[in-house]
Amino acid sequence: MNWEISRTRRGASHRRNSWNAGKSDCAAGFGLYDLNFETCFMMIRRARKEDLPALAAIETEHSGYPAWGEHGLAAEFEKKFSVTLAAESEGVLLGFINFWVLKPQIQLNSIVISVKALRRGAASALIGKLCEYAKKNVCPEVDLEVNEHNAPAIALYRKFGFEVVGRRAKFYNNLEAAILMRKMVLSDG
Ligand SMILES: CC(C)(COP(=O)(O)OP(=O)(O)OC[C@H]1O[C@@H](n2cnc3c(N)ncnc32)[C@H](O)[C@@H]1OP(=O)(O)O)[C@@H](O)C(=O)NCCC(=O)NCCS
Repeated sequence: MNWEISRTRRGASHRRNSWNAGKSDCAAGFGLYDLNFETCFMMIRRARKEDLPALAAIETEHSGYPAWGEHGLAAEFEKKFSVTLAAESEGVLLGFINFWVLKPQIQLNSIVISVKALRRGAASALIGKLCEYAKKNVCPEVDLEVNEHNAPAIALYRKFGFEVVGRRAKFYNNLEAAILMRKMVLSDG
C-alpha cells in the first residue's frame, strides 16, 4: 500500500480547541497543532514493528478499552489477511486501525486514537483509507462490533454510513452488549 497524505481541514471551533489544547500538548511533544492547524498534515501508512510500543501506549490511554498490547499488535503482522494502518503527523503517531481482509468481507477489529489527538479527524482519515482499501480489493462489506455504550465510536461509524445489523448480549466481559454494524462500501460509489 502506498503512503497517503491527508490535509486536515476543520472548522473554526476545532481550530480554537486545537490552539487551546496545543499549549499543554506542546510539553508532551504534540506542538504540531500549535503552529497552524489548517495546514497540518496527517499521513496514513502501514504500521511498522518499530511503531508498536507507541501504538500499544495509545491503547492504554483509554481505560477499559480491550487493548491488544504490543504482543497482540505484533501478532497481527504475522497474519497475511491482517492490515494495521497508522496515522502520523510530523513524526508523532496519532493512532491506528486494524482490519482483516476476509474477501468479500472486511472485519474492522480496532481503531484507537491518542487522547491528545481526539476530534481532529484522525479516526476519519483511517476509516476513509479502510473504505478506499475495501473498494480497491473488491470487499463490499465492512463489519464491526462496538460496545453499546461507546457513543463516540458509534457516532463515528454512523457518520461513515455504518448501520446497525445486530446485537450480541453480554459480549464484553459477559456484561455489556456488542452492537454489530455494517457498511456496504461499493454501493455508495
Ligand atoms: C472513537 C474514536 C476512534 C474517534 O476518534 P477521533 O479521531 O476523535 O474521531 P474523528 O475526529 O475522526 O471524529 C469523526 C466523527 O466521529 C464522531 N465522534 C468522535 N468522537 C466523538 C465524541 N466524543 N462524541 C460524539 N461524537 C464523536 C463525530 O461524528 C465526529 O465528527 P465531527 O468531529 O465532525 O463531529 C476515539 O474516540 C477513540 O480512540 N476511542 C477509544 C477507542 C475506541 O473506543 N475505539 C472504537 C472501538 S469499536
